[in-house]
Amino acid sequence: MSYVPDCTKGALGYVGIFVDVLFIFASNSVMVNTSSSTTQKITVRRIQFGHENTFERHWFRGNPFMTHFMNSLHSVFPAGERYFIRSVKWFDKQIQDPELKERVKAFIGQEVQHGMQHEKFLKTLDEMGLDGTGFEDWYAKNAYANDETPSHESVWFGLLEKVVGKEKQQRIGLAITAALEHYTASIAETVLKHRDISAGMPQDMQQMFLWHAAEEIEHKSVAFDVFKDVAGGAYHERMIGFVFGSAYLLYYIGLGWGHYLLADKEMNKVSLPQAIGESIPTYFKLVAETAKSVLPYVLPDFHPDDSDNDQLAKEFFAESMPYIEAKSA
Ligand SMILES: [Fe+2]
Ligand SMILES: [Fe+2]
Repeated sequence: MSYVPDCTKGALGYVGIFVDVLFIFASNSVMVNTSSSTTQKITVRRIQFGHENTFERHWFRGNPFMTHFMNSLHSVFPAGERYFIRSVKWFDKQIQDPELKERVKAFIGQEVQHGMQHEKFLKTLDEMGLDGTGFEDWYAKNAYANDETPSHESVWFGLLEKVVGKEKQQRIGLAITAALEHYTASIAETVLKHRDISAGMPQDMQQMFLWHAAEEIEHKSVAFDVFKDVAGGAYHERMIGFVFGSAYLLYYIGLGWGHYLLADKEMNKVSLPQAIGESIPTYFKLVAETAKSVLPYVLPDFHPDDSDNDQLAKEFFAESMPYIEAKSA
C-alpha cells in the first residue's frame, strides 16, 4: 500500500521555502542556552516494565482518543530506533574520537532497551485485539524496508533516492535520524517539564514513558555529532533530513493512531467527540511546548547540547530509579 504522491519535482525548492519560514520563527525563540554546552554521560539501564494485563483498554485517562495516540507512539518507536542504530552504524568505522565511539555504543545500548520495552507492550495490544505487532510489521517494512542500507523498496527511501540521489542516501538518512532524535529530545523536555501531560497513565506506563524520555535527553547529541563531525553533513543536508523526518514522523504516528481507532471494536464511537474535546488542552500544551524546543534546530549554529534540559533528566532518574529498579528486579 502506498500513501505517498509522486511530488518530487521541485521538492528541494519547497524544502528551502519551508526552512526559511521555520528560520524566522526559530530566530525569535529563546530556547537555546549557548552558555552551558556540555555533553551528558549516557548510562545504559537494563530494566523491565511488567505491564501485562494490568490496566484498562483505554489506559490513558479512560480516553480512547488519547490512549490510541499513545499506542501509536509506542508502535513507531521500535522500528524507528532500529533504523537510528543502523544509520549511525553506517559511519561508525570512520569515528576516530574515542569518546564519541563510547557515546555511540551507549546510544545503541539505550535504543536497544527502548525498543525491547515498547515491543513488549505491543504484545499487550495484541492481547487486546488491537494488532499492535501487525501494525508495527507493516510500518517497519513500509518505512524502512527492514534493510541494512536505505532501500528504494521502502516508500520513504524510494522518495529520498529520487530527491537526493543514491550516493547521498546514507548521509541524508543519518540527517533524518539526527532530526528525529531532536524531536524525541524535545518531546522529552516537554513531558519531563510538564508532568500533568502524562498524569492519568498507569504508573508503569508513565514511568516507562518518562524513562525513555530522560534517556533521549542523555543521548540527544550522539547522532547529530556523527552526522556533522564524522559524516561531514552540511547544513542544507541537515535541513533536508529535518523536513523529511518531520513529514514521516507525523505521517506514521497519524496512521498508527487511525489504525488503533479503527481496530478498537469495543470503543463507544458516540462518545468519541467528547473524548476528542477532552484531549485538546493536553495536546495543545504538548504540541506548543514541543514546537518551541524543536524550532531552534533550523538555526545554522544549532547544537543539541545547547538545549538546556539536562537537569530534567537527572532529576527524573534521581526520583524514579528506585521504583524502576524495584520493578526490574
Ligand atoms: Fe529511544
Ligand atoms: Fe533516541
